[in-house]
Amino acid sequence: MSTDAVGRAYPRLEGREKVTGTARYAVEYPVDGVTYGWAVPSTVVRGRITRIDTTQALASSGVLAVLHHGNAPRLVPGPDLDLRLLQEPSVHFRGQFVAVVVATSLEAAREGARLVRIDYDAGPHSTVLTDDHPGLYKPDHVNPSYPTDTAEGDFDAGYAAAPVRMDATYRTPAYHNNPMEPHATTAQWRDGQLLVHDSTQGGSPVRATLAELFALPPESVRVITEHVGGGFGAKGFAKASVVLAALAARHVDRPVKLALTRQQLFGPVAYRTPTIQRVRLAADADGRLTAICHDAISQTSTTREFAEQTAVYTRSMYAAPHRRTTHRLVRLDVPTPAWMRAPGECPGSYALESALDELAIAVGIDPVELRIRNDTAVDPDLGRPFTSRNLVACLREGARRFGWAGRDPTPRARRDGRWLIGTGVAGSSYPARARPSSATATARPDGSFLVRINATDIGTGARTAVWQVAADALGVPPERVEIRIGDTDLPTASLAGGSMGTASWSWAVIRAAGALRGKLREGVPPDVEVTAEADTADEVGGQPTRPRYAYGAQFVEVRVDADTGEVRLNRMLGVFAAGRVVNPTTARSQLIGGMTMGLSMALHEEGLLDERYGDWVNHDLATYHITGCADVESIEAYWLDERDDELNPAGVKGIGEIGIVGAAAAVANAVHHATGVRIRDLPIRLDKLIGLSALA
Ligand code: MOS
Repeated sequence: MSTDAVGRAYPRLEGREKVTGTARYAVEYPVDGVTYGWAVPSTVVRGRITRIDTTQALASSGVLAVLHHGNAPRLVPGPDLDLRLLQEPSVHFRGQFVAVVVATSLEAAREGARLVRIDYDAGPHSTVLTDDHPGLYKPDHVNPSYPTDTAEGDFDAGYAAAPVRMDATYRTPAYHNNPMEPHATTAQWRDGQLLVHDSTQGGSPVRATLAELFALPPESVRVITEHVGGGFGAKGFAKASVVLAALAARHVDRPVKLALTRQQLFGPVAYRTPTIQRVRLAADADGRLTAICHDAISQTSTTREFAEQTAVYTRSMYAAPHRRTTHRLVRLDVPTPAWMRAPGECPGSYALESALDELAIAVGIDPVELRIRNDTAVDPDLGRPFTSRNLVACLREGARRFGWAGRDPTPRARRDGRWLIGTGVAGSSYPARARPSSATATARPDGSFLVRINATDIGTGARTAVWQVAADALGVPPERVEIRIGDTDLPTASLAGGSMGTASWSWAVIRAAGALRGKLREGVPPDVEVTAEADTADEVGGQPTRPRYAYGAQFVEVRVDADTGEVRLNRMLGVFAAGRVVNPTTARSQLIGGMTMGLSMALHEEGLLDERYGDWVNHDLATYHITGCADVESIEAYWLDERDDELNPAGVKGIGEIGIVGAAAAVANAVHHATGVRIRDLPIRLDKLIGLSALA
């Protein structure tokens, strides 16, 4: 494979369409005779609908129908209760969609939704996660399929015998994904065939789910995802919106556009579970870890089990002879938590990388050096060598670029007027996976090439990256290659999730290109189009089990107002080792995006649930705070030139999620260094730091 296109900073192929507004998203396609759906959320937490009065709604101008459990088309009962929408009168959480109003305009649908009267029989509910909840249980596995608990050596004995110990509990609140484009679908039925334009991270999985729910052969369902306005995991699989739109379109026998409102994104489609994490670390006097224990508690719903793999990060990150990790869950009367950027690694790294900072102080060793001392060439969990592990190189390069050397470890040692200045570091890691995908490559008589694969570009630049890979694999300049993605009529491919999109899709594209070159070498008549296809299922499935991870080091400098406790970010710098970087522009964007989201987690984001109503009160972007541009004064992402031949043919590790991992810990560690105050429950709000001057 030549390397002409890979590694070059091509602008996004669809950039012009996006900035000029001609790129169409899920509900932006013109459709003849289209109607509009508006989802109606339940106003009770748990109970049953006893009566639905649609009289006023149906009498309202433009309203065509009100779908609910009494009249909606039937779905094939499947295991996922979250998708069994409008089938039963039961309510399992506040905000569950219990009706859909369909009208000839969006405004009429909204007004109709206001006029639907629903009576409920409401029961008591439990919506708050606590570490002594009577419903705590051990799930069979954690997301996606990790063992729930692990143990090596004898943690209790190892911990008790160590000269240095730390034991602390860290808490993270609920976080809400909130991609810019909401969950949105245009659904159309034609002669028993279902066509949806959907905002999802994976058209192929959505097609499979719709086919099951509506008892259709998969080829009778087509899902188009040409452009998707973000996901952050919230659109990782079929969500309520696409099912509601398809039900509504079938019921009224007209095309339906249905987009969730911003408020509706807070809960029923995805959010990150709150966590309670106890971490215990023990070390010898040189800071070598002898015992590590990470006990994580999180919540799930009564409708579907989702077990955040919070402590999984700790299994492979640092070595110690005595180790234990556990996960416990509680089924609450809440929407099901789901994937959000680096599920598991994100909250887990906050706890472990904070705990390491506390240990570094306890043992009197620089926190960069402490991490270097506890590096391991062998995965402590799997017991096999990593295919590549450049954590130490990231720490050293980060320390050099950041200017870490000579840091005075004493908290509150640096001051600039009212501002207390501090610096912090954290490690970072994310698995490098790939999933089976298929693709075709076509040589056309005019010398151009067409590559087809049902990849999804959720705004990351994946379309452009795979196009670059394809050009090199075909051995031609990228200008001669056309790429088509985002349609289930194209060869089936894996979703954009788990930081494995580019790895999975590149693999299939490289194989298809190789097969095409083989055919062309055999010789073909000049005026004939030639196509070759590839499916990586066997190759991916047959890959030897090896620990494959990307690594990073996060460095942060903050200033904290000694009077008000206000925390400001001076600078944030990350160095990553993530295999081959296909496109520096889009890669940098992913990395600094993840880091910014980690900063947001550290300082701003917090779902505040009102137990009386079982719902988040700050369910909009005015009251759910997120980091904005003005909060990020300086942010830099770098990467090492890393080659790892035991990943996939493109040599990429995936960069969508690693940027958020460790970022919040680095901020919290910097805040401690600045102030001497250790915040163990995020976010680091100013009320948790107020009165610092009195502490002096
Ligand atoms: Mo990502 S949370 O795996 O979509």
